[in-house]
Amino acid sequence: MNIEFEITEDGSHTLFVPGLNEHYHSTHGAIQESMHVFVDAGLRHCVKSEIKVLEIGFGTGLNAFLTLLETEKSSRKIDFTSLELYPLSITDAEKLNYAGLIDPSKKDVFEKLHKAKWEVWNQITLYFSLLKMKFDFSKPTDFCPENQFDVIFFDAFAPEKQPEMWTQEIFDKIYSVSSENAILTTYCAKGVVRRMLQAAGFVVERLPGPPGKREILRARK
Ligand SMILES: C[S@@+](CC[C@H](N)C(=O)[O-])C[C@H]1O[C@@H](n2cnc3c(N)ncnc32)[C@H](O)[C@@H]1O
Repeated sequence: MNIEFEITEDGSHTLFVPGLNEHYHSTHGAIQESMHVFVDAGLRHCVKSEIKVLEIGFGTGLNAFLTLLETEKSSRKIDFTSLELYPLSITDAEKLNYAGLIDPSKKDVFEKLHKAKWEVWNQITLYFSLLKMKFDFSKPTDFCPENQFDVIFFDAFAPEKQPEMWTQEIFDKIYSVSSENAILTTYCAKGVVRRMLQAAGFVVERLPGPPGKREILRARK
């Protein structure tokens, strides 16, 4: 996938995909958006001491990195499974400024996330292990994980750009691989997405969004 680097309003990078006319994150602030939607609204609402996270779209690894930093604060063990069809090159990943902005001492840890082998578990830190799977989630039938997930970061490109990633089949699949009381968050608050999540079986609430976005969604099993 052809990509261009851009700086968002909080100073952090995002990537722009000219072929889709789509950004990986909000141009109002990539770090700010990821913290708000996935860490604050999602991860922090899971009460378990050992958490299995599923992410749709590893992308820049920003959500994984923020989650890893969060585990250090809370000393909770996290197994993080992330699906990605178009992995970034290591060279591109090394240009991202997230570690430099958040905690320069963690630059090597951010690089470890990207250098981690695909399709196998990688112990990145004491609390955080990572399984990256090169997988086309527009065909969810073949996704057969070994465990159920407690927290789901649904971070696909927008429905207008990639409608094949926002189907009833996909949300049914996610519901079926979620544990009791699982929490899913997504930056997209469209009615059609909310209704698909409800039809899958989730109880869905609208929450205030990060700057530049009125609402986001949190779904609970
Ligand atoms: C909004 S970006 C994700 C941002 C990412 N979570 C981050 O922290 O940078 C959407 C991601 O979905 C990936 N993607 C696109 N089509 C996909 C597919 N069919 N299956 C899995 N991932 C896909 C893209 O390559 C991109 O990395």
